[in-house]
Amino acid sequence: MKTVSIEIRPGEPQEASAIADVHRVSWLQTYGGLIPHRPLVQMVNRRDETWWRKATRGPATLLVVDVAGTIAGYATLGLSRAKALPQEGEIYEIYLRPEYQGIGLGRILFGEAKSLLRSLGCRGLVVWCLEDSEHAYQFFQGAGGTDIAEGMEDFGDKHLKKVGFAWN
Ligand SMILES: CC(C)(COP(=O)(O)OP(=O)(O)OC[C@H]1O[C@@H](n2cnc3c(N)ncnc32)[C@H](O)[C@@H]1OP(=O)(O)O)[C@@H](O)C(=O)NCCC(=O)NCCS
Repeated sequence: MKTVSIEIRPGEPQEASAIADVHRVSWLQTYGGLIPHRPLVQMVNRRDETWWRKATRGPATLLVVDVAGTIAGYATLGLSRAKALPQEGEIYEIYLRPEYQGIGLGRILFGEAKSLLRSLGCRGLVVWCLEDSEHAYQFFQGAGGTDIAEGMEDFGDKHLKKVGFAWN
């Protein structure tokens, strides 16, 4: 029987190109047809290899899922941007390559990100997700999140509702 290693660890500068590729394919899959094409492509192109190399040294913590040497996904986390909410931590982003979704990796990555925030001293955490992003919505609900806040996000001339899930 073959054993496949799965590791959750901080992303390294030399992995910037692989992380940029995860970001590109996952965002195009998740938001294609939801966010208008032009702003979506602009957002994806802005996060090139150079952007991600800087992100590995930036103020947000960047975790990657390494499956037998392939970067299958990433999560970024840090202090919550919504200062009016009591939860101190935030998972800013959690994205997997399409071919690695639905097999439990998101649950593992989310659990590690949550533990890391707690070990950094953050009490509670929030995650923001587009209301129309059905799969993500179900994922955060399934992970025990409570829908506590709402907001709007503008993408070109399209306005989409976002929902804040909280864990205390
Ligand atoms: C959202 C995401 C991180 C979840 O990770 P995942 O590895 O696919 O999810 P898991 O396999 O760990 O599944 C955990 C739970 O999520 C839900 N889930 C998983 N796949 C699902 C699907 N295809 N449809 C609906 N719910 C699903 C289930 O509740 C599942 O629990 P179960 O196994 O008891 O049924 C991942 O699918 C992803 O990267 N999606 C695209 C990007 C995205 O939307 N990110 C969030 C932005 S806010």
